[in-house]
Amino acid sequence: MKTTFPTDFLWGGATAAHQVEGGFMEDGKGMDTSDCRLTSTKYGPEQANRFMKIETRSMYEQALATEGLGDYPFRWGADEYHHWEEDVELFAEMGLKIYRLSFAWSRIFPTGEETEPNQAGLDYYRKVIGACRAHGIKIYGTMVHYSMPVNLVNKYGGWKDRHVIELFCRYAKVLLEEFHDDVEIWLPFNEVNSGVFHPYNGVGIVVDDECATWDDPFRNVKSDIYTGIHNQFVANALTVKMAHEIDPSIKVSCMIARFMPYPGTCHPENVLLALQDQQRDNFFFTDVMARGTYPGYMDRYFTENGIEVRMEDGDLDLIAAYPVDVVSFSYYFSSISATDDTWETTDGNLTAAKANPYLEKSEWGWQKDPIGLRISLNLLWDRYQKPLFIAENGLGAKDVVEEDGSIHDPYRVDYLRDHFLAMKEAIKDGVDLLGYTMWGIIDVVSSGTIQMSKRYGMIYVDCDDEGNGTFERRKKDSFEWYKKVIASNGENLA
Ligand code: BG6
Repeated sequence: MKTTFPTDFLWGGATAAHQVEGGFMEDGKGMDTSDCRLTSTKYGPEQANRFMKIETRSMYEQALATEGLGDYPFRWGADEYHHWEEDVELFAEMGLKIYRLSFAWSRIFPTGEETEPNQAGLDYYRKVIGACRAHGIKIYGTMVHYSMPVNLVNKYGGWKDRHVIELFCRYAKVLLEEFHDDVEIWLPFNEVNSGVFHPYNGVGIVVDDECATWDDPFRNVKSDIYTGIHNQFVANALTVKMAHEIDPSIKVSCMIARFMPYPGTCHPENVLLALQDQQRDNFFFTDVMARGTYPGYMDRYFTENGIEVRMEDGDLDLIAAYPVDVVSFSYYFSSISATDDTWETTDGNLTAAKANPYLEKSEWGWQKDPIGLRISLNLLWDRYQKPLFIAENGLGAKDVVEEDGSIHDPYRVDYLRDHFLAMKEAIKDGVDLLGYTMWGIIDVVSSGTIQMSKRYGMIYVDCDDEGNGTFERRKKDSFEWYKKVIASNGENLA
């Protein structure tokens, strides 16, 4: 029996290009979809989080017409574009074994359609990756994390058009050829299930303004959403093929936002609903990308809901021939499945959740559940028998800078400790877990609520929701704690 973390366990930290970099339109970068997401401080209170997750046509067009930084926080992020040396030094001091970064497609192919990459964009990533490697930090490379060049949305309507597969493959080929010696694990698509909940982020689909008032805001675009996701499955398979042709030992991963639905009661209807939620929101995606087959339960779901997934001959063979090597997921919270529509609700990652009376919540209503992580690890390992990677996990909280500049964040340490203990239990259960990249190791702009004040980092960034601040970096208490955790390979969690 394994009793603890393997000696080569990859302790790390994660960020995404649009949330951390800034460097808006610098050195040839094109505008991307994240640059068009408006700060949460511009929303009325009654619109709350839910509408912030929907970019409608009028909002999008207003953003496209806005030059400069405006009220668009992903245009400044945490300004890593100008602070990368300092950031990598801090990662090295912490002892990170791996840094999960994402490449901005629009920094390398500004419109997505060029035939040659923007050399300045490649140079930027070469510098960051080179600095990490010089410190012995491995790289987990995400190719697309919620962003694509806006030109591909304007011209093709995002991923629902098959032509985008070819353009993505051009981009993926450049990344693989340029960086394959330096990247430990490749991830073509962050949270490939996100398009169902956030079509703009996931598949580059802008919904009409009136959608945001519907109970099911995306019902009229579901065929486009699932076609967009199907096109990502095809692009993923082609990326696995290209990677393995370069070197069969290159590891390519898929990733989902993991939802952990518990039946609200032991009534069989609720147990069935929890299974169906799990299938539709999670297993569908990993079944296709890790097993290589479309599951029957989705055929039924598509048929009964009038959803047409537009495929071409040969797509399913390609998906079957090139499954991923690793299964990654993000894990933040768990939820309840219940047929009772009056059940209390709370917020969660990408979607609202039904409340679990046994769990505490974060300040943003996300239900903290380390045991759900252990269950998730067991379920995914049993189902796929492929190495797993926790690509994101962490606690969004409001941090306070004391007069002496220190930042005490015991709530973050408590959250992480509980999850590390759950990981250890899962490893004892026999799960093959390769690594863990804590989200966002340095404060970044929150994806769901588009604000800086929802902070995850162990490194504080002096910047407020409007982008005011020095962008100076400071270590929080959790920085020293994680350093000890890594140095002891997960043994010292005190
Ligand atoms: C994940 C995303 O779903 O959740 C990240 O991949 C995101 O981009 C993270 O930041 C946390 O969500 P939020 O909304 O708190 O930023």
